[in-house]
Amino acid sequence: MRIGVVGSGYVGLVSAACLAEIGHEVISVDTDVEKIAALQRGEVPIHERLLPQLLERNRGQRLTFSSSVSAAVAESEAVFITVGTPQGESGEPDLSYVESVASEIAAAISGPRLIVEKSTVPVCTCESIRKVLQLHGAEPGHFSVASNPEFLREGTAVTDFLYPDRIVLGVDDDFSAAMLYSIYRPLTEGTYCRQEGAIPGPDPQPKTAQVIVTNAKSAELIKHASNAFLAMKISYINMVANIAETVGADIDQVCAGIGADPRIGPQFLKAGIGYGGSCFPKDVSAFHSVALQCGIDFSLLSEVTRINTEQRRNFVKKVRTVLWTLRGKRIGVLGLAFKGGTDDIRESPAVAIIQELLKEGAAVCAYDPAAMLKTQEVLAGTIEYAESEYQAASRRDALLVLTDWERFANLDLQKLRAVMKLPIVIDGRNLFNPSQMAAAGFLYYSVGRALQITETMPNLWHGIHFGSQAVTMLPSGWPDHLRQLRSELVST
Ligand code: UDX
Ligand code: UDX
Repeated sequence: MRIGVVGSGYVGLVSAACLAEIGHEVISVDTDVEKIAALQRGEVPIHERLLPQLLERNRGQRLTFSSSVSAAVAESEAVFITVGTPQGESGEPDLSYVESVASEIAAAISGPRLIVEKSTVPVCTCESIRKVLQLHGAEPGHFSVASNPEFLREGTAVTDFLYPDRIVLGVDDDFSAAMLYSIYRPLTEGTYCRQEGAIPGPDPQPKTAQVIVTNAKSAELIKHASNAFLAMKISYINMVANIAETVGADIDQVCAGIGADPRIGPQFLKAGIGYGGSCFPKDVSAFHSVALQCGIDFSLLSEVTRINTEQRRNFVKKVRTVLWTLRGKRIGVLGLAFKGGTDDIRESPAVAIIQELLKEGAAVCAYDPAAMLKTQEVLAGTIEYAESEYQAASRRDALLVLTDWERFANLDLQKLRAVMKLPIVIDGRNLFNPSQMAAAGFLYYSVGRALQITETMPNLWHGIHFGSQAVTMLPSGWPDHLRQLRSELVST
């Protein structure tokens, strides 16, 4: 099928590349002419695993780039809208980009077209798009509008697209249903994954996607309700972690216990410094606004947001408790992106925490494998940027872990300890094993887990104020193999 995808950002570009990968002729459109020129030159504007391979494979073949919406509409049978829907000042999403794209599409429609809303939008947006299309001259018989929400997590967006848990088709007529079925057939019938050279799925035996067919309004609600629920799960577990931390329980083990109940499930129960990104914060607020417009006070959602904001403050409080005063303290930071695997810093808890530390007079040196360029645009010259994790830690009073990049968990602990002025690590993502950190001589604080100190730790720690965090003494006389066994048991 010939498909236009309007908006070539984190969602649009991945969607366009994946639609080309599964066999369609795709035009990826963006108003940002520099971005389009860069894509045409073969550059990849975002850090997203497997996207460079897909672009390389399909560029100039089944995937082309353009800055003209009308050209894409003229040449396509289906047009996906994937422009941003940022949060407006009152918490409601700003839908002006969606509206302006819809009006441009209207002017270019000449025969039957399916318009697919993929950006995250409030319920009833498809209805508004239909009105805009008509107002701007599209003939009623010439178009259908459907909702097809995305469930793409940055960092795994390509495999999320190609091997989805579910594909939601929000359709109000047969034409939309037939077109969308046809677009996704390679995924629903499993022909893509059997194809030679297919991007491998995340599981050894990839399942074919479950298709959920509903009307447009229900599909729009599914998207907002899913993201708000996941955000709620994170805020819930962060509160449980705060209790665990105070009493000396272990949040990892509590999560293993809770998540083993299939009614709850183990995912999205990772405690930390709260959720960020371009979706959860904005979608929770937007869903709350939708509810209020329906006359329903969904106050649970304001609690989810409040807890999330508070969790960042708690972390800064922890840093203050450990380091006492922050003015003049030299702090190393690992991670700037809102999560590992991306260069995206929108609503990143890491950036918010750094801004607080700077306000209190700390000097920050940060390292992130992908997000330093984007952070420079926001934090400019207020912090130093390191070339490696070890450089960020070098001669620092403390090292903070703020993003869950996998590579951070594999650092050489002896080397890390050797470069630091004080061996203090405050981990907002629970990347390390507390016993191993204690054994390596670190005073290691994390979220929802007791601080472990060994009898052999230097006298330096005596008299340190541990705040409300519980402390576990590790016996120093344990033979190494028992110590190893214990940490393995703890980590499983
Ligand atoms: C997407 C969704 O659209 C949003 O609703 C969802 O909640 C998060 O994911 P995302 O892809 O992350 O947004 O946004 P971004 O990376 O900012 O990309 C949007 C692109 O649309 C930009 O490249 C921008 O230049 C382009 N755009 C915007 C247009 O082409 N036309 C416009 O009128 C506005
Ligand atoms: C989200 C949705 O998951 C995805 O389906 C789509 O709708 C776009 O929005 P994304 O924002 O890319 O994806 O990342 P996600 O993996 O959902 O993480 C969001 C935030 O929650 C990150 O800051 C992450 O660090 C945090 N998080 C996630 C936790 O704090 N704990 C967890 O257990 C999981």
